[in-house]
Amino acid sequence: MKFFVDTAEIKDIKELAATGLLDGVTTNPSLIAKSGRDFLEVTKEICSIVDGPVSAEVIALDHEGMMREAEILRKIADNVCIKVPLTIDGLKTCKALTSDGTKVNVTLCFSANQALLAAKAGASFISPFIGRHDDNGFDGMDLIRDIRLIYDNYAYETEILAASIRHGVHVLECARIGADVMTAPPAVIKGLVKHVLTDKGIEGFMADWAKTGQSL
Ligand code: E4P
Repeated sequence: MKFFVDTAEIKDIKELAATGLLDGVTTNPSLIAKSGRDFLEVTKEICSIVDGPVSAEVIALDHEGMMREAEILRKIADNVCIKVPLTIDGLKTCKALTSDGTKVNVTLCFSANQALLAAKAGASFISPFIGRHDDNGFDGMDLIRDIRLIYDNYAYETEILAASIRHGVHVLECARIGADVMTAPPAVIKGLVKHVLTDKGIEGFMADWAKTGQSL
C-alpha cells in the first residue's frame, strides 16, 4: 500500500520523506489555510521534496473555472495531481484533464456510486473520506470494501486513495481490504511504528548489553 501524507507542513513532509516511506502528499484548502503559506509557493516546495504525486485542489466550482485553475496548478511541477470535488463539474474536469494525460484525484467521495462515476471519468485516484463517513454514523470501511469490489469487477485502474484517516486501525483495515493508497496526518503515520513491546524489548536488550561491558 502506498503512503501519502495529508498535510502542507514542510517540516513534517521532509521528516517523513527522509524515511523513504513516503509515496506522495495530499493537500486541501483547509490544510493550505492551516499552513499559513501561499498556495502556489508551498505546493511548489512540496513537489520539490517528494517524487510522487502531490494533490493540489482547485477552488472553482464550475468546469471552466476548474480548467483555468488546473492550468495554473499543473505548471508548478510534473508531479502535481489536480484534485477536484465529486460533482458533475468536477467529473467533467476530471475527464478533460485525464484525457490530456494529467493526473486527477477526485475528492470528497462518500458513496460507492460516486466512486463508480469517478472511475468512468478516468480518475487517477478516488478519495473516499473514512473518518468523516464514520462521524456521520456510516461505516467508512464498508465504503472502501464496496469500491474495491466494484473496481475489481470492471478492472478499473483508478486507485483507491483512502482519506480522512484518523488512526492506525483505519490504516490496518484499509490494508486488509486492499486500498491502493492511504493518506493520513503526519502524527498517524508516525504513530504506526509505536508498540509498547518494541520499546520494552529495546530497553531490555540495552540493559543486558550494558552488563557485557562490550562496545561495537
Ligand atoms: C484527503 O485528501 C483530505 O485532505 C483529508 O484526508 C481529509 O481529512 P479530514 O476529514 O481529517 O479533514
